[in-house]
Amino acid sequence: MLRGKEERFHGDEKNVHAIFTRMVVALREAFVAEDGQVGDLFALDNANITMEADWTVRNKVCIVTGGNSGIGKEVAAGLAAEGAHVLIGCRDQDKCEIAKRDILSRFHPGVGISGSCTVTCLPLDLSSMESIDTFVDNVRRDSGRCAVLVNNAGVMGLHSSGSEATQDPHFVTNHVGTFRLTEQLLTRTQFAEESRVVTVGSRAHHQGSISIENGRVAGCPKNWYGAYARSKLANCLFTRELQRRQNAEGRHLDAFTVSPGRVNTSIFSNIRPKFVRWVATSLAARVFQTPEQGAQTVLYAATSPTLTGRGGLYLHNCAVARTSRRAQDDDVARALWEATEHLIHGESK
Ligand SMILES: NC(=O)c1ccc[n+]([C@@H]2O[C@H](COP(=O)([O-])OP(=O)(O)OC[C@H]3O[C@@H](n4cnc5c(N)ncnc54)[C@H](OP(=O)(O)O)[C@@H]3O)[C@@H](O)[C@H]2O)c1
Repeated sequence: MLRGKEERFHGDEKNVHAIFTRMVVALREAFVAEDGQVGDLFALDNANITMEADWTVRNKVCIVTGGNSGIGKEVAAGLAAEGAHVLIGCRDQDKCEIAKRDILSRFHPGVGISGSCTVTCLPLDLSSMESIDTFVDNVRRDSGRCAVLVNNAGVMGLHSSGSEATQDPHFVTNHVGTFRLTEQLLTRTQFAEESRVVTVGSRAHHQGSISIENGRVAGCPKNWYGAYARSKLANCLFTRELQRRQNAEGRHLDAFTVSPGRVNTSIFSNIRPKFVRWVATSLAARVFQTPEQGAQTVLYAATSPTLTGRGGLYLHNCAVARTSRRAQDDDVARALWEATEHLIHGESK
C-alpha cells in the first residue's frame, strides 16, 4: 500500500518534471524564434557625421553603472580586458570592491588583454539626484573625459508606493536616474570627442506604453511587469532622442540601446509573489544565458568599430534588432525627454 503510494508519488514527480522540462524547451524555442526577428530599425539622420573609424576603448575612461554584479560586472571586465579605465558606479562599495578584485584577478596584475587597465569603484545611487550629482563631481575631479557610458543598472519586480510615475521605482531608477546621469556627464564633464552611450534595455519594452499628459508622464502601471516594461520603453525612447539631439549639435556621440537577452542574474530576486519568483529563478538557472554571454552585445555596442556613426540603433545578439512601434515615435521621445527634464528640474529645486 505504502509502496503503491510512493510509486504514484514518484510517478507524479516524474510527470511534473517532464511537464516542466517540456515547458522549458517550448519557452526556449519561443525565445530563439523571437531572437530570429532581426530587422532594420529606425533610421536616424547621422550619416553625414564623420566618426573615428578605428574606435577603441584602450586607455579611455568607461563608466559602467551597476557594474558590481550580473551583466554590468561582465561588461566592466570586458572593457578592462580591452585596456580601458573602468569606473564602476554602484550603491554598495563593499560589493564593488569584491567585484573589482574578481575582475582584476582575471588579468595579470592590472593588465588587460590589450594593455593597462584600471578598475575604480565610486558610490552611485540612481534613485537619488544628490548621489548622481556627487558621482559626476567625483568623475569630473578624478578622471579624464568619459568615452563610454554604459547605463546598465536597473531594477525589476518592485512595487510602487503610489499611483504617480515618481512613485514607481522602475521609472525612477531605470529611466530618470539614467537620464540625469547621462545629462550631467554630458554637460558637466564633457565626453571625449568620440564617445558612446550604451543603455541596457530589454525586449520587455515591446509590452510597455508611455502616456504623457500636460507635459508629465502619467500614472503608474498596476503591476510591476507593466512598470518595468514602461521603464525599458523609456530607455529606447531616451536613446532615440539623445541621438537626435547629439546629431543636431554635430557631436560625435553614438547612443545605442541593447537587449541583452534573458540572463541568469539577481535581477529576479525581488519578484513577488514567491511562486513567480521561484519560476523565474528556476528558468533563469536552467535556460537563460550566463552574465558573460549577456554582456556580449553590450560590449559589442561599446567597442565595435563597425558601429561608429551608427548611433540610434537597438541591438540584440550583436546585430540590429526590431523595436516596438512605440519605441520609434519621435514625438513621444521628445515629449518624454522634456517631461523628464521638467521632473528633474522641479525636484532639484
Ligand atoms: N537579466 C536579464 O534577463 C535581463 C534582461 C533584459 C534586460 N536586463 C537589464 O540588464 C540590466 C542589468 O541587470 P542584471 O540582469 O545584470 O541584474 P543585476 O545583477 O541585479 O544587476 C543590476 C545592477 O543594478 C544595480 N542597481 C539597482 N538599483 C540601483 C540604483 N538605484 N543605483 C545604482 N545601481 C543600482 C544593482 O546594484 P545592487 O547590487 O546594489 O542591487 C546591480 O549592480 C538591467 O538594466 C536590466 O533591466 C536584464
